[in-house]
Amino acid sequence: MTTLLLTNIGELTTHDPDAGGPLRDAALVVERGAVAWTGPARQAPAADTSYDVGGRAVVPGFVDSHSHLMFAGDRAEEFAARMTGTPYSAGGIRTTVAATRAATDEQLAANLTRLTEEMRRQGTTTVEVKSGYGLTVRDEARALAIARQVTAETTFLGAHVVPPEYADDPGGYVDLVTGPMLEACAPYARWVDAFCETGAFDADQARAVLRAGEAKGLRGRLHANQLGPGPGVQLACELGLTAVDHCTYLSAEDVDALATTGTTATLLPGVEFSTRSPYPDARALLDAGVQVALASDCNPGSCYTSSMPLCIALAVREMRMSPAEALAAATLGGARALGRDDVGHLRVGAAADLVVLDAPSYLHLAYRPGVPLVREVLVAGRPVT
Ligand code: NIG
Ligand code: FE
Repeated sequence: MTTLLLTNIGELTTHDPDAGGPLRDAALVVERGAVAWTGPARQAPAADTSYDVGGRAVVPGFVDSHSHLMFAGDRAEEFAARMTGTPYSAGGIRTTVAATRAATDEQLAANLTRLTEEMRRQGTTTVEVKSGYGLTVRDEARALAIARQVTAETTFLGAHVVPPEYADDPGGYVDLVTGPMLEACAPYARWVDAFCETGAFDADQARAVLRAGEAKGLRGRLHANQLGPGPGVQLACELGLTAVDHCTYLSAEDVDALATTGTTATLLPGVEFSTRSPYPDARALLDAGVQVALASDCNPGSCYTSSMPLCIALAVREMRMSPAEALAAATLGGARALGRDDVGHLRVGAAADLVVLDAPSYLHLAYRPGVPLVREVLVAGRPVT
């Protein structure tokens, strides 16, 4: 068994509530892929190998709890039209469905690898990946089987939109999703999700999908209140879901329900940036004691960024989260949104998934937007960049 000592850490964020904030002049020991010790560098125990990070900041790897990486093609023209006035609508998803159905398994896998490597270079060490651009039994199942090769956090999103061949029979499509499609997808998925929004699925349809998924052993999460007010957040709270995502248009009752049930509200500020929409009221959520996560929502339509540092910068600048709140939401919050306690922090026992920043402090993630500050990424204590 070999141990690794990371030393000369200028600022170490562990998210240990007893530490009272980041540690200065710190060190961290990795043993068997997990954090075995943290503390002042001058008190660090001996280890088999050591790595001097030169006074730089170290933070937990980002936990991106919401992405749609199983697709082919892009929608750059749609983005350009949006920037000159065409509003975003859920219907654009069908363009990507057509391209995804036409792609080979190899093309889908190559696109997934390209995007997960891009994420990793920007500090993401855990990523959730959804299906949702296949919308046939075969295309949803193959998307999840491919995604399963790169992450354990896979989500069945057959209820993304009603595909064109079911335009006149949305009820028939929900029957397909809750029946044969779920049957084929459940072996490759940990989560079940639905897009509860005008133009996609209503609350009763989303409830049916989530309940069917839960009966198959999947855990529920939901896209809700993205494009306007709606019943999705209340439904997520009623069902006791782990996370409800977007949360852009919330009523006071929605905020109360989230605070009471402990369902994590996942905010996706890259979407508001890329669709030129109002940002969610993160302050109302945080001040009410709601658990908040930040994630990328990386997808070819509403938000084609893979960058968690960008999401942190947007959360701070546009949503009035403090830099500490934004970093916590992008790490610990994402882990909570995935029901994980082994990632998103660097307390003893956690996975040694961490990022060495080319900066003296995590504050620079928001202070220096757009700058590639990720110098090195370790997963289970091993360099991956
Ligand atoms: O999370 N909201 C639904 N699904 C994606 C958008 C997908 C698309 O436009 O292709 C989202 O924003
Ligand atoms: Fe999404």
